[in-house]
Amino acid sequence: MQVRIRTIRWEADGINSYILEPVGGGMMPPFEPGAHVDLQLEKGLARSYSLVNDPAIRGYYEIAVHHAIDGRGGSRHIHEQWRVGQIVEMSEPKNNFPMVEDASHTVLVAGGIGITPMLPMIARLEKLGRSWELHYVAASPDRAAYVDRVEDYDRVEIAYDGVPGGQRLDLKAICGRAPTDAHLYCCGPTGMLDAFVATNADRPKGHAHIEYFSAETELATDGGYTLELVKSGKTIAVEEGETMLDALLMAGVDIGFACSEGICGTCQVKVLDGVPDHRDHFLTDEEKAANKLIMVCCSGAKTANLVLDI
Ligand code: FES
Repeated sequence: MQVRIRTIRWEADGINSYILEPVGGGMMPPFEPGAHVDLQLEKGLARSYSLVNDPAIRGYYEIAVHHAIDGRGGSRHIHEQWRVGQIVEMSEPKNNFPMVEDASHTVLVAGGIGITPMLPMIARLEKLGRSWELHYVAASPDRAAYVDRVEDYDRVEIAYDGVPGGQRLDLKAICGRAPTDAHLYCCGPTGMLDAFVATNADRPKGHAHIEYFSAETELATDGGYTLELVKSGKTIAVEEGETMLDALLMAGVDIGFACSEGICGTCQVKVLDGVPDHRDHFLTDEEKAANKLIMVCCSGAKTANLVLDI
């Protein structure tokens, strides 16, 4: 769908928020807390961003973008090229980070721009009258977005770990005191997510939820294998130095993608034969072991041939 940039607002050093409204008025599609949209920035450049606003607000979406100076160009494009009034291409909302709304207690842990999916969660939890707490760490007050939206609630901890005398979140203590049947959510840098997963390893399955906003994904670019596409009838050689997605796009295969680093799930394809070399952070360990799905933006092949259902 096409949306218009209604407002651009400074939220913190390097972080702008963008209000996107339907072209021609009307309502935005409904979304659930934790959802994101994929934005098509230019040909071959798409990125996913969490929706920030209260899902009960239907007239617009709000996203926030951290300008990653050493990133791969998506946030730079938005910070440098987006202007108020411009029309941009956006997907329908998708949710890889859904919230269990009837949990006895909800623990939200955010690092930096990872605060964004937590805001609609808080709005919904407040509306439902549920028990929740938030732990939010940023480098410094200047670099912490949306503090004004959360600081007045009870049970909110805000920490700054990049200032003299600053402190980190004590994940062991935070997660350790959460009841066994609580649901815990973490969005932040990879190191924080890894620590969160390790800390909650003994929790009941499905009670500790994570979302990457970027990942240090090592793309499979060794090449040397062939893709057989059953629906389009094409056979494509993936050469050394290119990803599977590169090879598919070069061959004119119309395939959706957004993050290009194995975190958003947009480029998922069914595998009919062969063994993928999974590099993504999206599929579960069980799904990876089953070898029935592959994220083509980052993964490769362990066999000379992969048969894909596209
Ligand atoms: S494009 Fe996001 S997982 Fe592949």
